[in-house]
Amino acid sequence: MSATTSLVDELEQLERSAATELRSSDDAEALEAWRVRYLARSGALAALLRGLGGLSPEDRPKAGAVANRVKNTLEAAFEERASALKSAARTRALESERIDVTLPARGIRLGHLHPITRIRREIERVFLRLGFSVVEGPEIEWDHYNFTLLNMPPNHPARDMQDTYYIANVEADGPAGGRNDVLLRTHTSPVQIRTMLSQKPPIRVVVPGKVFRNEATDAAHESMFTQIEGLCVDEHTTMADLRGCLTLMIRTLFGEKSEIRFRCGYFPFVEPGAEFDMSCHVCGGSGCKTCKNTGWIEIGGCGMVHPIVLGNCGLDPARYTGWAFGFGFERMALLKYDVDDIRLFYGNDLRFIRQLS
Ligand code: PHE
Repeated sequence: MSATTSLVDELEQLERSAATELRSSDDAEALEAWRVRYLARSGALAALLRGLGGLSPEDRPKAGAVANRVKNTLEAAFEERASALKSAARTRALESERIDVTLPARGIRLGHLHPITRIRREIERVFLRLGFSVVEGPEIEWDHYNFTLLNMPPNHPARDMQDTYYIANVEADGPAGGRNDVLLRTHTSPVQIRTMLSQKPPIRVVVPGKVFRNEATDAAHESMFTQIEGLCVDEHTTMADLRGCLTLMIRTLFGEKSEIRFRCGYFPFVEPGAEFDMSCHVCGGSGCKTCKNTGWIEIGGCGMVHPIVLGNCGLDPARYTGWAFGFGFERMALLKYDVDDIRLFYGNDLRFIRQLS
């Protein structure tokens, strides 16, 4: 066998085995290894091409032509394989990153109001419709407004009705002129005083807000809770107007059949004073567990603004009359949402709050 024939054979053999191997190179790494093995300067093809130099000048063109063809064929096959692998990889990536735009979207959890806020807004709405304004006052209050001007001068025994958190005793240009205690307000009634001192009758306001009492907490008591105060001062307003407004409120919240009843009650800043109850919304008044078989549920306090209080605020009690009421929202929320522990409202357990949404 001549040197030419054997070189040509070797080239063709190389072409065949390279083609077979190329078909099984199915990732970038294997492809690169193939290229190094066959096409690189130190590869198998280059090694055979170096053999061309040893051929006689007559044999060289024929072998050279075969060598060129093999080289071109392998290079073209390599390019083709490389681009096929690349496009296969791209297809795979697209497939795995595919987004199904027809999938239903994940629901967005909307926020909602706290049950106490809802009750507050419902009550405010009743009084806004009646021409009242909603006003607020400070939670840190002067003793002078929380007690003294509400007809509870220092050492008045009624001060003990509400266990007070005192904050400081300060010498300041406060309303008392001189030293006065600063405290966390125990009720919203000091805002009555602030309102009467700053507005002329007719006055119609409701005052929602936090109040604080230094009490042991249990299922029915929290040291912080929310009250709403109502105040109306005008030339001819009477206790019948008070009763009418409270009845409308309770009917709006608990239904048309609800009734209000007054019981004699003592608050130093009203005269006459009353506690007011609503008919039990569960049994309608016949007696059940909720109303402890009385048919009535205690709500809050109310009465005609005491002439001393009107006078303390510079209003002439001979000309003006006024009425006021106050009660806590939490008790109402307990009833309305059938909750049995007031502490749940401020326990920061969202599962509870969401249940009432
Ligand atoms: N401020 C009283 C309390 O918190 C309630 C009340 C308000 C009573 C207005 C009468 C008039 O106990």
